[in-house]
Order: sequence, then C-alpha cells, then structure tokens
Amino acid sequence: MLACRSFAAPARQCLRRASPATQRWIPALPQSQSRFYAVAAEDKVAKFKGTKGNDGKFTVTLIEGDGIGPEISQSVKDIFSAAGVPIKWESVDVTPTLKDGKTVIPDEAIESVTKNYVALKGPLATPIGKGHVSLNLTLRRTFNLFANVRPCKSIAGYKTPYDGVDTVLIRENTEGEYSGIEHVVVDGVVQSIKLITKDASERVLKFAFQYAEDVGRKKVRAVHKATIMKMSDGLFLSTARDLAKDYPKIEFDAELLDNTCLKMVTDPTPYNDKVLVMPNLYGDILSDLCAGLIGGLGLTPSGNIGDECSIFEAVHGSAPDIAGKGLANPTALLLSSIMMLQHMGLNQYADKIQTAIFKVLAEGKTITGDLGGKAKTHEYAEAVVKAMK
Ligand SMILES: NC(=O)c1ccc[n+]([C@@H]2O[C@H](COP(=O)([O-])OP(=O)(O)OC[C@H]3O[C@@H](n4cnc5c(N)ncnc54)[C@H](O)[C@@H]3O)[C@@H](O)[C@H]2O)c1
Repeated sequence: MLACRSFAAPARQCLRRASPATQRWIPALPQSQSRFYAVAAEDKVAKFKGTKGNDGKFTVTLIEGDGIGPEISQSVKDIFSAAGVPIKWESVDVTPTLKDGKTVIPDEAIESVTKNYVALKGPLATPIGKGHVSLNLTLRRTFNLFANVRPCKSIAGYKTPYDGVDTVLIRENTEGEYSGIEHVVVDGVVQSIKLITKDASERVLKFAFQYAEDVGRKKVRAVHKATIMKMSDGLFLSTARDLAKDYPKIEFDAELLDNTCLKMVTDPTPYNDKVLVMPNLYGDILSDLCAGLIGGLGLTPSGNIGDECSIFEAVHGSAPDIAGKGLANPTALLLSSIMMLQHMGLNQYADKIQTAIFKVLAEGKTITGDLGGKAKTHEYAEAVVKAMK
C-alpha cells in the first residue's frame, strides 16, 4: 500500500512592477550594486504579510534550538538590540511530541509562527531512535515552506581554495526524494518514492525566477537528472522550460547534476551570475558543496520560504561537540537573520549589520575558532556591535 500525502496548491499570482519592499538577501553585494527588480511586492510568491504592532515593532518568532542554538541566538539578540532593529522576539519551544504516531510540534509554536508570518530558527537536533521524523522536516511540512534559499559568498579575509565564490541555490523543499513515502515490498526489498508534482515544481521555479529578478541575476539554471529520471525530473524540467517563457528578461538553461558538481569544484565563478534551482535532494547535497567552497557551515545562511510563513536558519546543526563552551560561530545565524530582515523589508538594518559583520571578519582579529581565531561567541558579537558604531 502506498502512503498518501496532501499537497497545497501553489498561490496563483500575476506580475506587476517592483517595490523596494521586495528586495531579498543580496549576499554582501556592495550597496551601489543593490537594485530592485521587476515583480511587485503585492504579487510576489511568498511576500511577507506581517505588520507592525502599536509599538512600531514587528514580532518575530524565535526558535533558539538545541546545542549551540541558545548561544548563537543570544548573539543575534544582542546585535539586533544594539542596531535598534524594530522587532521584538517571541521565543517558542518546539520540542516534538508524538500524536497518533506522528511527530508534531507544540500548538503554541505553530500559532506563534502563523501569527507572526516569520521566524528565526537555531539548529534542532534530531532525536535518534525515538520514532520521531526530523523536526526540521516537520517544520517545513507544517508551514509548507516550499523553497529553501541558500546563498554562499566568499568572505573577505577568510581564505579558501577559491576566491570570489557567489552562488545562489534554491532547493525544492517539500517533495522529491524527501516525500517520506517508503515501504517494504517483500522481506529484503524496500521502495522509496521520489514524488514530483507540477504544482510544487511550478511554485519553486516561479520563486526562483522572481528571486533572480530581485537580486539582479540574469540567469536561472535548473539542475536535474532527467536523462535518467525521465518522468520525475523530466516534469520538473519541462515545467521550468514552460515557466521561463513568462520571464523574457531572464536567460534560462538546464544542466545535469553530475556536470554541475564537476564544474563547481573545478571553478565555481561561472555560477556567480546564476540562480540555480533544483529538486530536493540535489539541493541538499549541492548546497553543502557550495558551503564547503566558502569555508564551511559556520558561514552559510538559509531561508525556508512559504506562501504564508517563512523560517530563516543557519545551514549547520546543533554542534553538540562545542555546545555550552562559548566557541560557536554565530555568523551563519546572523546572515540568516539578515536574509530575514530583507524579507521583511527592513533593508536599512540588514545593511548596517551585514557591513559590520564583514568588517569584523575581514579584520580577522576577533573571529571564532572554526575560522582560525580565538574569540568566544560573545566577544565576536561585541566586535560586531562595536563595528556598527
Ligand atoms: N537545520 C538544522 O537544524 C540542522 C542541520 C543539520 C544538522 N542538524 C542536527 O544537528 C545535530 C548535530 O549534527 P552534526 O554534528 O552532523 O552537524 P553540525 O553542523 O552540528 O556539526 C558539524 C561540525 O561543524 C561544527 N559547527 C557547526 N556549526 C558551527 C558553528 N556555528 N560554529 C562553529 N562550529 C560549528 C561542529 O562543531 C561540528 O564539528 C544532529 O542532531 C543533526 O540532526 C540540524
């Protein structure tokens, strides 16, 4: 018997002119290069719907997470407070429970994210062998976070084998190989279904084209393996080709996944002018490859985008080996919080904090151990605060 899932239909929206409120995270682009592009805020897939309260502040759900989560969340809170960002945090606990055999997160957490439309999330450890599915997967499914945006840009002052990496990858986040449809056919034979739907493909592809317009990239490339998975990846690819016709200013092409991997590790810079979009598993793997190109997980942010709510998080996990020691690098969560501010239209604060972060990293005097420095988490955060003055 096959397990069944239900799928939310993508929002159908039409396109109009641009507004500054639509600008998304432009990874470390010099401000002179920051531009606003084509699609109107009110017509965008996944537009931020939150509003300020009577106190002039947005409320943002904060999931501090496990392991190093509380330490790096504290850095974000301290830096936001020093920058005068007009938000207030609403901390929620997402410790999972099993309800009718399914992993669920507490109602209060769901209500908070639903009400605020936006959350910043620290890493969550997945309990092993307790019958839970990944909490991260649960969150993505609960809030239908259909696109995972992962930008990776070289950081001045932090030497890696390649200079000038600037990739943007958008991963389909709800189906494909992560559909969770697995069963035993007979003893010793199992089957896992890779499920691709036109609706979900269209939704993430549309978001990728809009994102490319927002950040001023002229090319969208679909990464696939339609030569082998002719029907599933074939559907993703044909949907992309059809949709590309709606975006005449964006150049569209496609590339086989293995070819992309080879070319990226040979020379990543030809990817600097593109937005890459792909099915779930390919995005998972390729985005970690990109993270490796810029110096690892301590530096890479991400945004999980849904039509209603969006959740921003670092790509790394809870780092249990260094938790509680004040050694964690909060940069990835900070850069995720900058993506969040831009999603919310708070670009001026995003720019201010981002400039300070890159200044501190480039100076290299107050950086954490993973980057070869000696600073504690809070010392690094204090240096960022100082750099904002
Ligand atoms: N999005 C998420 O919430 C997320 C992502 C990945 C893993 N996880 C969970 O995290 C737990 C640990 O996973 P893992 O050990 O495989 O991966 P990890 O990312 O937690 O750690 C891998 C290595 O990177 C280091 N590291 C990670 N983040 C760092 C930071 N900010 N500063 C300095 N060093 C950092 C760690 O010390 C460790 O050596 C698991 O339970 C896993 O399921 C959660």
